[in-house]
Amino acid sequence: MSPTRRQFALGLLGAAAVPRWARATATLDGPGLRTLAAAKGLVFGTAVQRNQLEDAGFAAALRREAAILTPEFELKWSTVRPAPSEERFGAPDALADWCRREGMALRGHTLVWHEALPAWVPRFPDAAAARILMTAHIAKLVGRYAGRIQAWDVVNEAIEPKHGRSDGLRVSPWQSALGAAFIDLAFHAAAAADPAAQLYYNEYGLDFDTPEEEARRRATLSLLEGLRARGVPCHGLGIQGHLTAVGKKFNATRFSAFLDAVAALGLKIMITELDVTDHALPADPAARDAAVAAIAGDYLTVACAHPAVIGVMTWGLSDRQTWLNSSPDYRRRDGLAQRPLPLDAALQRKPLWAAIARAFDQAPDRRV
Ligand code: G3I
Repeated sequence: MSPTRRQFALGLLGAAAVPRWARATATLDGPGLRTLAAAKGLVFGTAVQRNQLEDAGFAAALRREAAILTPEFELKWSTVRPAPSEERFGAPDALADWCRREGMALRGHTLVWHEALPAWVPRFPDAAAARILMTAHIAKLVGRYAGRIQAWDVVNEAIEPKHGRSDGLRVSPWQSALGAAFIDLAFHAAAAADPAAQLYYNEYGLDFDTPEEEARRRATLSLLEGLRARGVPCHGLGIQGHLTAVGKKFNATRFSAFLDAVAALGLKIMITELDVTDHALPADPAARDAAVAAIAGDYLTVACAHPAVIGVMTWGLSDRQTWLNSSPDYRRRDGLAQRPLPLDAALQRKPLWAAIARAFDQAPDRRV
């Protein structure tokens, strides 16, 4: 039942019956997602770009809704070290300072990835050079933000079963130079640079009931089992949660069983990059918003019910800025802007906002 109809129905029963999320849905002054999440011992946050903080309205929405931020690209290798002799920390420093002033937490994303690498990085002549380059980068970045970044996506998107390896690993510059051991090396280097930081492995395509995503879940689980068996300091799995409103079937039982298997390794789980592409839907905004909210609600109801899940982060707060509009795979063919995030371009709450709020409202209280 959509929040509007449900809210109307509950309204007939009297205000007392209306859950907190329903009272807040339509107004800007109700409790934000960060408050609704915290009421159950969960955390809610979002990815942000440093230039977005200069917009007072957006900054106010961020303060109301988010308790933790992830720089969308400002901590990536291509941004912080565009050339061997060039280091650019201005933007991540500004984001870290803003978070400290606002009392918000900060997540680091990402130390080792096959994308966002400047051209000079993968030209390492041999394994020793690759190892030195990777571990020095991690030591520098994690050390610089020790005590200010509470968790890092240490390795991002290292699996790709389509590459045909028996371990399901992606053939990347790091894997080619160092073998699978690059993952262990990265986590040990991050732990050495900030022993207090929570260290995550972050992955996409783990959500739906398709053969491809089942293979990705199996490969991810196998990777995590190996890390745990070798005593690698990995504390959690980041499930990116880039969902699609239509075209793939969500199987709650299968997804919940995957969460169980990750939790059985003693790992925490964070939904790290939630958004819902509507590129396959007709143009009507209300229909898109309803479909986006429906799948996100089903997904988060399962995720937030699982005790190993500590929080949810969206990959952007408002439809004003989403990577999906510039993605060759997901930008809409009709040229319309996507509507994948909790707030619309005018910073108004959408049905997706209510679906996230409802998942928090229905989640078991972790604080007890
Ligand atoms: O802001 C600069 C602009 O000043 C400059 O003129 C322009 C041209 O160089 O670049 C702009 O920066 C771009 C940035 O997005 C902000 O729009 C970078 O080039 C571009 O590479 C960057 O893309 C990011 C992408 O990762 C690669 O880093 C996207 O914002 C970001 O949403 C996307 O996020 C990834 C996660 O890290 C991992 N999971 C998938 C997710 C979506 O692809």
